[in-house]
Amino acid sequence: MLSSRTAWDLAANALAARTDALRASGRPVLDLAESNPTRAGLAWDPAELTAALADPRVASYEPTPQGLLAAREAVSRYLAARGAAVDPGRVLLTASTSEAYALLFKLLCDPGDEVLVPAPSYPLLDLLADLEAVRLVRYPMRYDGSWHLDRAALEASIGPRTRAVVVVSPANPTGAVLDAEELAGLDRLCAANDLALLGDEVFADSALRPCPSVAAGEREALAFHLSGLSKVCGLPQLKVGWIAVAGPSARVEPALARLEVVSDAYLSVSGPAQLALPGLLAGRERFLAPLRVRLAANRATLAGVRGAAADVLASAGGWSAVLRIGETIDEEALCLDLLEDGVVVQPGFFYDFERQGHLVVSLLPPPPEFAAGLRRVLDRCGNADFASPSGR
Ligand SMILES: Cc1ncc(COP(=O)(O)O)c(C=O)c1O
Repeated sequence: MLSSRTAWDLAANALAARTDALRASGRPVLDLAESNPTRAGLAWDPAELTAALADPRVASYEPTPQGLLAAREAVSRYLAARGAAVDPGRVLLTASTSEAYALLFKLLCDPGDEVLVPAPSYPLLDLLADLEAVRLVRYPMRYDGSWHLDRAALEASIGPRTRAVVVVSPANPTGAVLDAEELAGLDRLCAANDLALLGDEVFADSALRPCPSVAAGEREALAFHLSGLSKVCGLPQLKVGWIAVAGPSARVEPALARLEVVSDAYLSVSGPAQLALPGLLAGRERFLAPLRVRLAANRATLAGVRGAAADVLASAGGWSAVLRIGETIDEEALCLDLLEDGVVVQPGFFYDFERQGHLVVSLLPPPPEFAAGLRRVLDRCGNADFASPSGR
């Protein structure tokens, strides 16, 4: 009676069940898997947020499949500040970046079609693809002291049913950032193979080096930039994301026309959130400035990690970090042991690393909590040599 695309194994795995139990236990928890900025001491001032949402126009309903013009103009200004000139007519609002993926998979793919996605990458993509009956094919990102696109491997993954290539820059959880040359190469590859290029750029504003947008410059392919308030303003509760489309008009216009119809079927972005968008985006530094300070403090703590048992992979951005703990350590067993110590971390296998032996930690927790959690992680890994700024 129920669809095969939703035929998931819903039994909680041991790690998820024990994590839930720890969080519900009332014991103090050092949560190095926290990815919600509003729970990590990075929430907006409630007065500022309610002021941004107080608009008398909330009383009326203006259904607009692409999103209100003023809100799309605000997205254009945001992108212009990132070096991408995108006309508001090429912007479409969504209820989140996740929903942006869903709309684009509907637009681009028939059931069974394939989309190339990077590995490692975050697990939500699998769920989003399942829901659209799309098959994800992974192309590897390679680490040699920094992360790179393996262009040859990506090219070899293109098959007759491939419809799009997803790049995530900065990537979650690795912090890989694609440079302008890599993006230009991908653009040409996509154009030559009639594939769309999707750029998930939710973490661009806190990148540690220039992070060009897929929507910047003259694109030959049909290119989509995806982002949203969840990461740009630390406001996941507002439920606003967007898609900005780049590329030649002959490719963009028919795509946008259909995208509008897809969006019209749901009209899922709330009016009040759209009205608030210009003010919130203009005020994004209220979130981004303290966020950067937080990320830098936790990265400084990580920089103190030395020793044979664990090291930290170099990253150019994102809200998390990857610890390499050695292939002989069972990631899941270690995470379960850490739960006994009151510490939540994520195993690398959640993110499809090519090999065993990684842990993923969020950089959002308050620095003393982060340092204390990291200390326990390293103790479990047998690393004695850890110069934590906050001491033991
Ligand atoms: C790289 C990346 N893209 C998109 C999302 C989803 O963002 P949204 O909250 O806008 O759906 C996440 C969530 O963590 C993410 O890590």
